[in-house]
Amino acid sequence: MADPKHIFVHDALLRWFRLNGRDLPWRKINDPYRILISEVMLQQTQVDRVIPAYTSFVQQFPDFRALARATTADVIRSWRGLGYNRRAVYLHRSARIVAECYGGRMPTDISLMRKLPGVGEYTSSAVSCFAYNAQVPVMDTNVERVLTRVFSGWGSVSKKDLGTIALSILPRGKAWEWNQGLMDFGALTCTARSPACNSCVLAVTCAAFQETKIPSGQNQEGAKIKRKVHKNPIRYEHSRRYYRGMIVRHLVDMERGTKVPIECLGHLYQKENHGQDLDWIKGLLVELSQEGIVTLEERSGQIRVYLAET
Ligand code: ADE
Repeated sequence: MADPKHIFVHDALLRWFRLNGRDLPWRKINDPYRILISEVMLQQTQVDRVIPAYTSFVQQFPDFRALARATTADVIRSWRGLGYNRRAVYLHRSARIVAECYGGRMPTDISLMRKLPGVGEYTSSAVSCFAYNAQVPVMDTNVERVLTRVFSGWGSVSKKDLGTIALSILPRGKAWEWNQGLMDFGALTCTARSPACNSCVLAVTCAAFQETKIPSGQNQEGAKIKRKVHKNPIRYEHSRRYYRGMIVRHLVDMERGTKVPIECLGHLYQKENHGQDLDWIKGLLVELSQEGIVTLEERSGQIRVYLAET
């Protein structure tokens, strides 16, 4: 017999989604290429920043074949503002594989999808569900948080147990709206630090809410969640990611084909110097070249760097 809590959660969440779900461009389509692009962008970037980037990216590269024809440098230029450029390189490589090995069509088999560079469990299930209507859970951090709170409480749940919960609660035939709904619910109501418990449609059945419920039934302010405090945090402006981003942005801004002597990069960043020297920057460049984002070229003892034209 169906679990009454499951029935309640399905009805409440799906109704909430019908009334409050966001109108996002990748929700109006079922093209696996566009869904793949949106899901990869959304993995590390906020929805507001993804919308314009997604729109112009798919305009410039409307399908796998178009993306496959581009150079890496073109793809990185179009990735401007999104950061984590390795994602763009992986998408580009995936597009070449899909164009060459699958006739330009994303495979429908989830295990074949997972063989594509940068496509892991999350991305393959998102594309399978949102493009091919596969009845599978799609677990990003928002979804994990909502399911943990509703079915377990404020504490954490192991990945394995969370997987079991996600499978058992999945409403068959409605995976698309369920997964999209959970994502929006996690982003808008059951947020990480300031969940709106007092207006939450799942509160009456939520394990976390039961843990903190005020017995007199007075209005509960949204529970305030403590932030994790890291010991000796590295400031973003001093981090490798910051400097990697600066280097790529600098190269994106140069005229096409410009090859920059690496001393110039050292010089550019000296003003900001947070203790990082040219050798440190060289280390980042080697890393970026190993990831296929830039090319390093040595000529008469001078090393120049440019966006990979592969
Ligand atoms: N984050 C990841 N995937 C998403 C989606 N499809 N809609 C909204 N936010 C998301």
